[in-house]
Amino acid sequence: MVSLMIRLDKYLADSGYGTRSEVRSFLRIGEVTVNGEVVKDGARKIDPKCDIVARGGKAVEFSEFEYYMLHKPAGIITASRDKKEKTVIDLIDSKKRRDLFPVGRLDRDTEGLLLITNDGELSHRLLSPKKHIEKRYIALVSGVLPENIAEEFEKGIDIGDEKTTKPSTLRRLDSIEETDDPYIEENYERLAETFGSISIMDVGLTEGRYHEIKRMFEALGGKVEYLKRISMGALKLDKELSLGGYRKLTEEEVEILKRGTEEGI
Ligand code: URA
Repeated sequence: MVSLMIRLDKYLADSGYGTRSEVRSFLRIGEVTVNGEVVKDGARKIDPKCDIVARGGKAVEFSEFEYYMLHKPAGIITASRDKKEKTVIDLIDSKKRRDLFPVGRLDRDTEGLLLITNDGELSHRLLSPKKHIEKRYIALVSGVLPENIAEEFEKGIDIGDEKTTKPSTLRRLDSIEETDDPYIEENYERLAETFGSISIMDVGLTEGRYHEIKRMFEALGGKVEYLKRISMGALKLDKELSLGGYRKLTEEEVEILKRGTEEGI
C-alpha cells in the first residue's frame, strides 16, 4: 500500500492543533518531536502510518477522515460555513478537521440524520443516484392525498423539472407510535390539533433534488408540515441522540456505509 506523506504543519493542523500559523508558532519554540527528535520545520514530510509525532511529550493522533452523525434540529442551515448564520458544522464542537462538510442537504426546517465528514469519495457515492442509496424520511402531511399515492411515488412524479422524479417508495403509517420517535410524536400532536387530520408517510428516495419531498406532495395536493430524515442506506439515526446531538460513527458503521456504496444497497 502506498503511504501518504504530508507536511508536519498540515499534520498538526488537521489533527485539531490550530491553524497553520498557530502550528508554526509552537513548532518554532521546539514543542514538537518526530520520532523523539525536536523538529521546527513545518515543511518536514511525515508518514502518518509510521512516524510518531508528539507535542509537549504527548502523542498527536492523526485522523485523515472524520465521520459524525448529527441529529439536525430545525432552524440550522446545511452548509459548511456562513458569515451570518450558524451551520450544522458549527454544532460539531469536538471536530478536529477543518475540512468537514455535510453529506447532502436538508432544508432549514428539516430535522434528522445528517452525516458530516471530510471523506469526499464516500460522500459522492452516498449521494450519486446511480448507487441507489436510499434516504428515508418521515413526512407529516396535511391536505387530501390520492388513494393511489404509493403508485404515484413508484411511477415518478412531475414536480416541474425536466424529468419526473426517480421511482421512490411511500408507506402510510397507521399510527404515530410506529415511528418510535418522541420528536416526531410531539410535532404530530401539535399539527393534528391545528389541522385535524395529518398523514404520516414513510418515504424512501434515491436522489436528492431541491425541496424534493415537499414538491412531490405538493404536486399531489398535500403540504409537508414536518419532515425528518431517519436513515441513509444502512445507517439509521441513533435514537439515543437528542435533537442537536451528535456522535462519531463507529468503525463498523463506516465500513457498512462504504460496503453499501460498493454493492449499491
Ligand atoms: N426533501 C425536502 O423537501 N426537503 C429536505 O430537506 C429533504 C428532502
